[in-house]
Amino acid sequence: MEKSFIMIKPDGVQRGLVGDIISRFETKGFKLVGLKQMSVSRDLAEAHYAVHKERPFFKGLVDYIISAPVVAMVWEGEGVIASARKLIGATNPLESEPGTIRGDYGITIGRNIIHGSDAPETAQSEIKLWFGDDLCDWESVMQPWLYE
Ligand code: RTP
Ligand code: MG
Repeated sequence: MEKSFIMIKPDGVQRGLVGDIISRFETKGFKLVGLKQMSVSRDLAEAHYAVHKERPFFKGLVDYIISAPVVAMVWEGEGVIASARKLIGATNPLESEPGTIRGDYGITIGRNIIHGSDAPETAQSEIKLWFGDDLCDWESVMQPWLYE
């Protein structure tokens, strides 16, 4: 089953959106297999966004991610990587559709509330980076009611 790394960024935590965001993934039917609130070191934030390290917004992005705690999660389910990106919405919240997390709660790209892995390879490396092997493998009783 596919897994995705999802992180509620410091603005999402500070604005009290953790419960709502978790609820959206939970009610969609995805299974939570990793969850922790944590302060992020500069090294971890830089490693997570290494792909953007030459971009002009990189330092501001890293400063933002380490400015307050985040909630790091791993969600599991069929098609979860692409589906989570849809639930999250476009990178710029002014362009995200209403009904998406960024579309409902955000205004600016530099405070866009949440991160989601963008492909299977990045999901795998991000899960390794943030959780190592420390995931919770459990059987949900809802499984037969979510999948045929
Ligand atoms: P994320 O990685 O956080 O899930 O966001 P994303 O895939 O939708 O967008 P990405 O291109 O990977 O950008 C990573 C994060 O960098 C910040 N950003 N700022 N000021 C800017 O022009 C700019 N561009 C990107 C955003 O926080 C974005 O989510
Ligand atoms: Mg990205």
